[in-house]
Amino acid sequence: MTAAPDFITRLPKAELHLHIEGSLEPELMFALAKRNRVAIPFDSVEAVRAAYSFSNLQDFLDIYYAGADVLRVEQDFYDLADAYFARAAADGVAHAEIFFDPQTHTDRGIPFQVVADGLLSAMHAAETRHGVSSKLILCFLRHLDEDAAFATLKAADPWLDRIAGVGLDSSELGHPPEKFARVFAAAGELGLKRVAHAGEEGPPDYVWQALDLLKIDRLDHGNRSLEDPALVRRLAESGMTLTVCPLSNLKLCVVDNLTNHPLDQMLAQGLRATVNSDDPAYFGGYVADNYRAVAAARGLGKAELAQLARNSFTGSFLDEAEKAAHLVRLDAYVAAN
Ligand code: HPA
Ligand code: ZN
Repeated sequence: MTAAPDFITRLPKAELHLHIEGSLEPELMFALAKRNRVAIPFDSVEAVRAAYSFSNLQDFLDIYYAGADVLRVEQDFYDLADAYFARAAADGVAHAEIFFDPQTHTDRGIPFQVVADGLLSAMHAAETRHGVSSKLILCFLRHLDEDAAFATLKAADPWLDRIAGVGLDSSELGHPPEKFARVFAAAGELGLKRVAHAGEEGPPDYVWQALDLLKIDRLDHGNRSLEDPALVRRLAESGMTLTVCPLSNLKLCVVDNLTNHPLDQMLAQGLRATVNSDDPAYFGGYVADNYRAVAAARGLGKAELAQLARNSFTGSFLDEAEKAAHLVRLDAYVAAN
C-alpha cells in the first residue's frame, strides 16, 4: 500500500547514523565564522552549497573537515547539536544516536571537554525541549593511527558514563578495521558499544573484519556486503543492524542513481536495514528526506517504511523496555495512518 505524503514525516523513528559535524548548515557555518573571527574560503552561503559536489568519500571529507574549523568554543558545539535536534524532532525522530569526531577538534587545539560538554548540554536540552532522547558515540578517525585512537579513548575517560559507544569513520580505503582491533577491544572492556563504518567504499572483507576483529554491535553503511552471499547470511542470521544512508550513497557515488539503491533488496534478504542521514547539511536532506527520496525511487510502501522505522528502534542502544515503548507508539501510528 502506498503511504500518504506526510506519513513519513510523522512516522516515529530513531536516527542511528548521524555525524554531528555533518549537520553544520552553511548558514551556521557563516554565523560561527563571524562570531569566532575565523576566515572561510567562501563569500556566501550559496557559494558553500555550490561547492558540495563530490565524486567520492575523500572529496567530501576534505570539505567536511575544513568546515568544522569554525567550531571553537563550547557554545558552538551546543548550537550545532541544538539545530540538529530541532530538525530531527520536526522529522519524527524520537531518539538519535549521534557520532562525533573528537580528533577533528583536539588536533586543532580544542580540548575534548569543550566538544563533549557542548554536545551533552544540547542533548540534555533536546530531551526537555523536543522530547527527543539521544546517545553519544565517539568515532575514531581511521586515517590516523592506533596510538592516536588510544589517546582519544584516554581523553574520553571522565565522560565515559555519558558516552554509549565507539565508532570508526573517515577514509575507508587503505584503512581496514584490523588497524583498530586493539583499541576496540579496550573500548569493549570499558563496557562501550562498538560500531564501525564498513563496506561504504571498502570491500566485503572490511565488513568481515569489523564483525570478527572489532566485534561490532552495529554496522554503518555495509552496502558492499551484498557482494558476498556468505556475509549476507552471517549478517542476517546474527540480526545485525545496518545503518543505511541513501542520500549520502547518492552524493558520494556509492550508487549511481537512487533507483538502483539496494535498500529494499537488503530487507528482502533478511538484513535489518535502517534509514539515516549521515551528514545532512552536506548531502541535501535530513532523515525524513532520506525516507522520502528512497521510497519514491524504489516504490516503497507503508509496510516497508514501517519495517525500516521498527528496525531503527530495535537496532538502537536503548534498553529493552524503552525499545518496547517506542514500538508500541510506532504500531499505533501505523495502524492509525
Ligand atoms: N563515511 C566515513 N566517514 C565519514 C562519513 C561517511 O559517510 N561521514 C562523516 N565521516
Ligand atoms: Zn557516516
